Amino acid sequence: MPSGADGLSRAAADDVRRAIAGAGGAIRFDEFVAIALYGEHGFYTRGGGRAGRRGDFLTSPEVGPLFGAVIARALDAWWEELGRPDPYIVIDAGAGPGTLARAVMAAQPRCAHALSYRAVELSAAQRAAHPPTVTSLAAMPEQKFTGVIIANELLDNLPFRLFVYDGGWREAYVAHDGLRFVERLVAPPEVPASLPGVAAHGSRVAVHDAAREWVNDAVSLLNRGRLVVIDYCSNTTSMTTRPWREWLRTYVGHERGVHYLASVSEQDITVEVAVDQLPRPTTVSTQAAFLHTHGIEDLVAEGQAAWQRAASHPDLAALNMRSRIREAEALLDTSGLGSFSVLQWVVN
Ligand SMILES: C[S@@+](CC[C@H](N)C(=O)[O-])C[C@H]1O[C@@H](n2cnc3c(N)ncnc32)[C@H](O)[C@@H]1O
Repeated sequence: MPSGADGLSRAAADDVRRAIAGAGGAIRFDEFVAIALYGEHGFYTRGGGRAGRRGDFLTSPEVGPLFGAVIARALDAWWEELGRPDPYIVIDAGAGPGTLARAVMAAQPRCAHALSYRAVELSAAQRAAHPPTVTSLAAMPEQKFTGVIIANELLDNLPFRLFVYDGGWREAYVAHDGLRFVERLVAPPEVPASLPGVAAHGSRVAVHDAAREWVNDAVSLLNRGRLVVIDYCSNTTSMTTRPWREWLRTYVGHERGVHYLASVSEQDITVEVAVDQLPRPTTVSTQAAFLHTHGIEDLVAEGQAAWQRAASHPDLAALNMRSRIREAEALLDTSGLGSFSVLQWVVN
């Protein structure tokens, strides 16, 4: 077993090469992403993808505790709507190291006494960081329940298929030419219905089979309640008309990474979510609008007031309250996190 970062990425590249050999010369692009991110030596499996200030990317929960405080308010509102179920099951899907869970618990929502918060995370390395106040799980539950499923920046990380227009749609497969991983374009047996009939030569597009199935499965788990997906989204047509580097991105250490076929398992591979390929949501809003609806202004005003009261003898709590102002700016920024989409599927 190779040790160290280089050893692990060599092992991940070996995993991909073995899969390619086993498949007779090429694997579908989504299989490549699955191995690169979630295989035995994948980016997330080996503990990469630490969202946070010292990690590889900054998600809304990692901006600071304000996002979780707003989610705590939303959870209270949905709990009331559901008739105050006890237990009130809330699944945080793709929970990463549990930062959202920590912030929700710290905000002490009214529903806290009924709340059964379950952080579902594929990566054992990330699960190890989950707080003891939540139930940490490797997979979604199998039993139906009444409650809420939240997935912040999960769908953009699910493996996706990749298609290229070349006088007709071809599907991207990954092969190895002896030196490096290369793309092979293959005529698919069936062109996914979501793709337009014609596109500019060289157009690329993601096909989200895994994300669509995940949403269908999550919604079918709910007797009553809602699935709330927060992510960077666009649509199939937009992808075909924009440079692929805008919507298919790699990240490592807060920087854009290299080409998606290089540095296997050393970088995150992420894609905008084409909403038109998912089951139709009940509501769609921006993250900024969602946070306004659930009282971000009140929380910021509360923070400002608490800071002013404590300004002459500030303690850590007062500093945290003051930091709500900066956190709100980042969370509401319409050229950044504020422009993310909040997709909700409500089950009555
Ligand atoms: C971009 S991170 C987001 C983490 C966290 N939700 C946040 O907002 O900071 C995506 C996480 O989803 C996890 N993940 C990917 N596929 C998953 C699945 N099918 N079930 C559970 N977790 C998954 C990854 O391991 C990773 O930790």
